[in-house]
Amino acid sequence: MTQSEAEALADVVAIFDDQTRFVRAIFSGRRRNMQPDYEKIEFRPIKLKDSMKIQMICNGKTTSKTTNLDFGDSQIQHYLASGFANFLVESTEKSLTLRYTKKGQFAVHVESHQKSQNLSHDRQKSRLLDSNSEFLRQVGISDQQGRVKPTMNDKFLQIEEFLRILMPTLEAEIANNRIPQPTSDNPLKIVDHGCGNAYLTFATHNFLIEKNFYNTVVGIDKREDSRERNAAIAERLAIGDAVSFRAEKISDSVNSAADVAIALHACDTATDDALAWSIKNGAKIILVSPCCHHDLQLQMTKIPDPWHQVTKHGILNQRLGDVLTDALRAQILRFNGYRTDIIEFIGDDHTPRNLMIRAVKTNSPSDPQELASYRDFVKSWNLRPKLAELLNFEH
Ligand SMILES: C[S@@+](CC[C@H](N)C(=O)[O-])C[C@H]1O[C@@H](n2cnc3c(N)ncnc32)[C@H](O)[C@@H]1O
Repeated sequence: MTQSEAEALADVVAIFDDQTRFVRAIFSGRRRNMQPDYEKIEFRPIKLKDSMKIQMICNGKTTSKTTNLDFGDSQIQHYLASGFANFLVESTEKSLTLRYTKKGQFAVHVESHQKSQNLSHDRQKSRLLDSNSEFLRQVGISDQQGRVKPTMNDKFLQIEEFLRILMPTLEAEIANNRIPQPTSDNPLKIVDHGCGNAYLTFATHNFLIEKNFYNTVVGIDKREDSRERNAAIAERLAIGDAVSFRAEKISDSVNSAADVAIALHACDTATDDALAWSIKNGAKIILVSPCCHHDLQLQMTKIPDPWHQVTKHGILNQRLGDVLTDALRAQILRFNGYRTDIIEFIGDDHTPRNLMIRAVKTNSPSDPQELASYRDFVKSWNLRPKLAELLNFEH
């Protein structure tokens, strides 16, 4: 028997209210002429101390927020009516799929099953990299038994999260024909700026090869000892023709082509060097996670009022300098034809340097108002961002 909309929604609410039956739910999509607060919401039951809660993970375009609700919380009904188009709701004995079509029609599908609740608090994210991979042993992230060394766990998670963002960005650009489908004759060209011990360099190559994306990666670091160590690892892994290393400053690099430019924690203005190199060499995708920032902090000496109320506090001045550095980097990327956003790519418990600048070359023209606003801002604060200097970008 087909359920009516009212019956199906009542059934959904009853499942959400039942601590012993609720398994999981996902709300996604957008109903015609409606705008839900989030792109997607995931719900699942968890046990916290002695009480049962519903964990709600709200995913926006660039953010994710987790809240724990009581069973019976009225927010569920709010989100049910907030404009999502698709609802998957599972209890221990059935799953309901509710859908509002583009024409606004309602459909429901019910299926019987037997599922149990998973009440663990921190469900493991699915792993992208196998800790037992030889390259992870060689770079020193995993031990001989193929376990991630406790001291390397944060770096392991950073490179995984980096890849979690690289992959869909790359797939979208290939689908949009802005990057050709990589082949063995025409592999994707990647450059890793400030590669250090090349954890990300090797991970990117390996991960993409496993996904059948032919690629070559060049790791650049100013340190000759890094180059020697990394090149020896590439030889041992028998991938020296695809993964190579150069000991040179990014700003002096003679390497001159990449579809994708990446940098994980390139120190201070080395991030600006990486961005400038990428813009000048027409990289289609730039993913850069900045490190320490000193450039603008040192220039923030003539701050117009009322900002002295913030900048008179040393630590706030420093944090404001960090924020401004990345905000102006993003603006300059936009003025150079990149669609740019800044996201948190990993929780700050794994690194305080957890922002990523993600830029995709679309060649869209600059917004004149944004450009005027940028000019006014740097003029009134008397700032000359390093990236602007490197690109000789107008003041
Ligand atoms: C904090 S480490 C990060 C290394 C690696 N990306 C990682 O996440 O493990 C920064 C690296 O950038 C290199 N570096 C700093 N400034 C550079 C520059 N201007 N040109 C090339 N390499 C640079 C340093 O030698 C160092 O190895």
